[in-house]
Amino acid sequence: MKYTTLGRSGAVVSAHALGTMTFGAETPPGTAHRQLDVFTEAGGTFVETADVYAGGESERIIGDWLAKKPAGQRDRVFLASKGRFPVGVEPRDSGLSRRHLSRALDASLRRLGRDHIDLYQVHAWDPLTPLEESMGFLEDAVRSGRISYAGLSNFTGWQIALAASTAKGRFPLISMQPQYNLLVREVEWEIVPACRATGLGVLPWSPLGGGWLTGKYRRDERPTGATRLGEDPNRGVEAYDLRSAEERTWRTLAAVEAVAAQRGVSMSRVALAWLHTRPGVASIVLGARTVEQLQDNLGAIEVALGDDEIALLDAASDPGAAPYPYGAAGLEQRSRTVD
Ligand SMILES: NC(=O)c1ccc[n+]([C@@H]2O[C@H](COP(=O)([O-])OP(=O)(O)OC[C@H]3O[C@@H](n4cnc5c(N)ncnc54)[C@H](OP(=O)(O)O)[C@@H]3O)[C@@H](O)[C@H]2O)c1
Repeated sequence: MKYTTLGRSGAVVSAHALGTMTFGAETPPGTAHRQLDVFTEAGGTFVETADVYAGGESERIIGDWLAKKPAGQRDRVFLASKGRFPVGVEPRDSGLSRRHLSRALDASLRRLGRDHIDLYQVHAWDPLTPLEESMGFLEDAVRSGRISYAGLSNFTGWQIALAASTAKGRFPLISMQPQYNLLVREVEWEIVPACRATGLGVLPWSPLGGGWLTGKYRRDERPTGATRLGEDPNRGVEAYDLRSAEERTWRTLAAVEAVAAQRGVSMSRVALAWLHTRPGVASIVLGARTVEQLQDNLGAIEVALGDDEIALLDAASDPGAAPYPYGAAGLEQRSRTVD
């Protein structure tokens, strides 16, 4: 395992975080506990969840595991959760209001069996709540000791800049979690630069594009069986029809497959190793249904891609920004040298 400080803070975390969105959903509690054992035995310290995962089950499963561990092992875990979306049946019980976040954080702490969370992230922007109100809640949560650090998720560039300037000097806002992988690189245009400029560590979610970058989905075959899209081809941003309609998907998968074959490693490891090379990335939020998948993915830390391999992957996955504002013309306008 490798370690890094998260954002502009002294918090040391493992360069792989264990994402737990599958816990209590496609991953039963026993397997989830084995994943936590395997991850921590490999040196992993950063465990990431959200109140909304499996309606709170993910947090409960982590809480049960923590309760069974001796204090020394428990204390090594850097625990992150998120709040914003409705967990119960009341759809209006959501957002980044002081009231909702306070109740959501209390409920997360109860399910996790802790009086404190290391990193509490707002799961997405809320257009109804003034940002001052949400940031004021995070400041108070840090002061009261309920959380050590705060983070963002799914914010756009201007939202990141606004949040960071509101938090500056008041409380440690240290990270941002966007979807980021070889199939979703548009975040490099505005979101990643905003994080780097404001000192937020980037925590990529869905680093394998929901499983696509393992090579398990085929152009000539709709997914079936016990895979994410086999169980629900229309699921989320990784829906089969959406991604398979993009030529870039197949071009990128062919490049990942070529690098993997040449090295004799899995496609997952190549895709994750590429993310490790990207500027601003602090820790990658891994996802796995099984212990074997997790073990495969953890091995990515040992894969150091060469410049030629990175160039091949970069070219195949390039989302192709129009010349202005994010392409060549815009870059030219924003460039300046001293000579
Ligand atoms: N902030 C947010 O809004 C947000 C959103 C989504 C996720 N997240 C976080 O990010 C974490 C990771 O997201 P993700 O689960 O979408 O990540 P991902 O790595 O893109 O996809 C994980 C899925 O791919 C398949 N897989 C993973 N490794 C594999 C391997 N080595 N071989 C074959 N199949 C493999 C498994 O699905 P199947 O076996 O079922 O095909 C697994 O559940 C989540 O747990 C969560 O903590 C955050």
